Amino acid sequence: MNFERIFENNKQWIAEKLENNPQYFEQLAKGQTPEYLYIGCSDSRVTAEDLMGANPGEIFIHRNIANLVINTDSNLNAVVQYAVEHLKVKHIIICGHYECGGVKAALYPSDMGQLNSWLQTLRDVYRLHQDEMDAITDAQKKFDRLVELNVQEQCMNIIKIDHVQRSWYKTGYPHIHGWVFDVRTGELIDLGLDITGLFAEVRKIYDLKPLEK
Ligand code: CO
Repeated sequence: MNFERIFENNKQWIAEKLENNPQYFEQLAKGQTPEYLYIGCSDSRVTAEDLMGANPGEIFIHRNIANLVINTDSNLNAVVQYAVEHLKVKHIIICGHYECGGVKAALYPSDMGQLNSWLQTLRDVYRLHQDEMDAITDAQKKFDRLVELNVQEQCMNIIKIDHVQRSWYKTGYPHIHGWVFDVRTGELIDLGLDITGLFAEVRKIYDLKPLEK
């Protein structure tokens, strides 16, 4: 994309929006009530709104390399707390994608400097599922599977967050979903993860609600 085109594109975008609805920006300025928090990869090919056909105001978005939920990441924690406590989102989506460079880097260990600590979380996902991962001989299938298992583990990391648990017990929301975007076909795939069931297995370790006596 030509740099000079960007502001021209913006003018064109404004004109298109106003043509459909002359009050579009007046309405947009009034506030946001998104029902979804989307946590996805920073990869330029995985454009959150575009691939879901969503409009401005509909999705609260956080993106980082390989869609990770790291409990010491104050940026992520602030986003999740704001989304859950203030916006009261009904759904949190963790969306990974096949051919993810971050996942690939963790699959083939090398010293990547500043990226090492970030990618360590992905290596931990491999370790948690080492038996399954080591049993896959096909390199592409192994890569694809680590993308999926990473989504699953990041969904688990979401439930470990105190704000999420508090809201969950109080209102039953947010629902947590694990998705993968296939950059090879454009398809958005719901992994159909049973997050409640998965959490039940490790609840005694991570549940922050005081146990009833
Ligand atoms: Co990626």
